[in-house]
Amino acid sequence: MSHLVAPSLLAADFANLASEVEMINDSEADWIHLDIMDGLFVPNISFGFPVVEAVSDLASKPLDVHLMIVDPDRYLERFRDAGASYLTVQFEACNHLHRTVTEIRRLGMKAGVALNPHSPVILIKDILPYIDMVLLMTVNPGYGGQTFIPGSFNKIGELRSMIDEGGYEVLIEVDGGVDLHNAPMLVHAGVDVLVAGSTVFSSSDPAETIRRLREPV
Ligand code: DX5
Ligand code: ZN
Repeated sequence: MSHLVAPSLLAADFANLASEVEMINDSEADWIHLDIMDGLFVPNISFGFPVVEAVSDLASKPLDVHLMIVDPDRYLERFRDAGASYLTVQFEACNHLHRTVTEIRRLGMKAGVALNPHSPVILIKDILPYIDMVLLMTVNPGYGGQTFIPGSFNKIGELRSMIDEGGYEVLIEVDGGVDLHNAPMLVHAGVDVLVAGSTVFSSSDPAETIRRLREPV
């Protein structure tokens, strides 16, 4: 499978959100990544349901919603109703992760689990049969525009082996500090989905940057 690209709207111009979504619609992007931050799990607040709903109304691509919030079980159904196709919860925010991912799938969404940079990949070994995607945070969550943590490459390799040896159909997504330089190396290391915020939206030609991120390696 060739890899996918999910531009993160966190870095978009919120005063012109409709045209930013149009740009993604017309680009080679595969999904649209939306970061939900509650000011508790991470030291930042982003946006909530009205914005997800508005994006969903405009978007022609699946919404990849990344919850950086405590107690995400309270809101799974509302994110489904707002338009999420993929719903990813943080491993560190869930006390009963199996219950949470089972519920995400029961609601008709694909279930993802995100791991913070300090969390070893072995932690999610037993949940792999029940999920569709693992999101490896390659920066500390909370802000766009941070520097990629190089040690993440070891984690990608370990996770790739774990998934392949178990024969699971689970995608590996990386999120944070993805740029045109490290993207080919990440795909080589086994990544299936690249999230990119500032690399896309700070570039002079975002659609062309998406195309370059998506180029086969
Ligand atoms: C960070 C978010 C990311 C963020 C990535 O907490 O989860 O999705 O938008 O931004 P960049 O690509 O700028 O590092
Ligand atoms: Zn994210």
